[in-house]
Amino acid sequence: MAESILDAYKHQHNTEAVIDASKKLKIGIIGTGWIADAHIKSYLKMPDVEIIAGADLIPGKADAFFEKHGIKNVRTYLSHTEMLENEPELDAVSVCTYNMTHAVCTIDSLNKGVNVLLEKPMCVTLDEAVEICRAEKKSGKVLSIGFQPRFDENMKMIKRLVESGTLGDIYYIQTGGGRRRGIPTPFGTTFIEKETGGIGAIGDIGCYSLDMVLNAIGYPKPLTVSGYKCDFFGKNPEYMPCPEYAEKFGVDDFAAGFVRLEGGIVLDFRIAWAMHVDTPGDTVIFGKKAALRIPSTDCWNGTVGGNMVLYHDVCGTQTETKLPILETKGNLFDMKVRSFLDAIKNGTPAPIPSSQIIYNQAIIDGICRSAELGHEIEIDIPEI
Ligand SMILES: NC(=O)c1ccc[n+]([C@@H]2O[C@H](COP(=O)([O-])OP(=O)(O)OC[C@H]3O[C@@H](n4cnc5c(N)ncnc54)[C@H](O)[C@@H]3O)[C@@H](O)[C@H]2O)c1
Repeated sequence: MAESILDAYKHQHNTEAVIDASKKLKIGIIGTGWIADAHIKSYLKMPDVEIIAGADLIPGKADAFFEKHGIKNVRTYLSHTEMLENEPELDAVSVCTYNMTHAVCTIDSLNKGVNVLLEKPMCVTLDEAVEICRAEKKSGKVLSIGFQPRFDENMKMIKRLVESGTLGDIYYIQTGGGRRRGIPTPFGTTFIEKETGGIGAIGDIGCYSLDMVLNAIGYPKPLTVSGYKCDFFGKNPEYMPCPEYAEKFGVDDFAAGFVRLEGGIVLDFRIAWAMHVDTPGDTVIFGKKAALRIPSTDCWNGTVGGNMVLYHDVCGTQTETKLPILETKGNLFDMKVRSFLDAIKNGTPAPIPSSQIIYNQAIIDGICRSAELGHEIEIDIPEI
């Protein structure tokens, strides 16, 4: 009896679900670079999946990718369009391309009636995000966006804290983070060139910290934004891991924004790939009853950078409660892929829906446009 009472307070973890492997979903991979590795490793663990095709613009890259993972009998193509034309049996694709081709690959796949797991950030501009949502609506297919930190137990705790009313009404959020030096060029320049990355730190890691807080507060609509962005580190060979890459740098390495959200909440955001300080600040959620501090991480890895602290009054005494760091059982990428496959099989809504992430993209787009114009702007999101 005592055991069952205690069980009620135990943290709920996903229990091993039984997967029906009698029908295999036919999967294709679009873009076989760095992150496609994580996707394929997760798909290979799923008993109800058959990888049938892959595409990459670089000749030989898709073949080498499948060979490296020991996958045989996969048809490879030199573009996503060629793959979609020749593979009518595809049930789903992972879009693992650089940011600038997220929209075209996703829209073309949805138009062919193929379900899509799209890597973050959703895309580059708000216009693209609108077109993606329209294609999704027309197709009736599942589109899930690849924010795997959503499956981290600490991220879920942030949302539970807000939803439980522990913080009271939220009125102000400071969020963001970044790296003292961390412009991502481990495998070339696709993150830093305008033609491939499109946006820099704001899209790469900024989208995560926006998702962390916006998901916790139920993704209110963004209304206005005053934004700033710059590229002082990326353009300076002294700060680049490969000095010759400085010439190719065409995106932001730091961005900040002051965003007004529906419901009277203000979001104060900043993100850096590089800076002369260890962090631009922790994430702090201000509520009328309590506040939550979420320590920033050195590098966005999908969890918290230390114990979260709840600031509240207990019988009139100002109190700080250190929350334990929760363990997440399982691999975040496996959970992201599994939740996508389950939505397809069960006909349930996308686990990380575009209806939320379009607001994330709208803020990114708004910061970039406001920064270019040099003044605050209104965020106008057309009907889907
Ligand atoms: N979720 C995560 O933790 C995580 C981590 C790293 C990167 N990412 C995201 O994944 C995406 C890819 O990053 P990456 O590091 O793998 O990039 P990458 O440059 O290593 O790989 C992208 C590949 O896509 C191919 N490609 C582009 N357009 C194509 C098209 N139309 N058809 C076929 N192939 C195409 C390119 O040739 C390239 O090989 C980025 O948007 C990035 O933000 C997510």
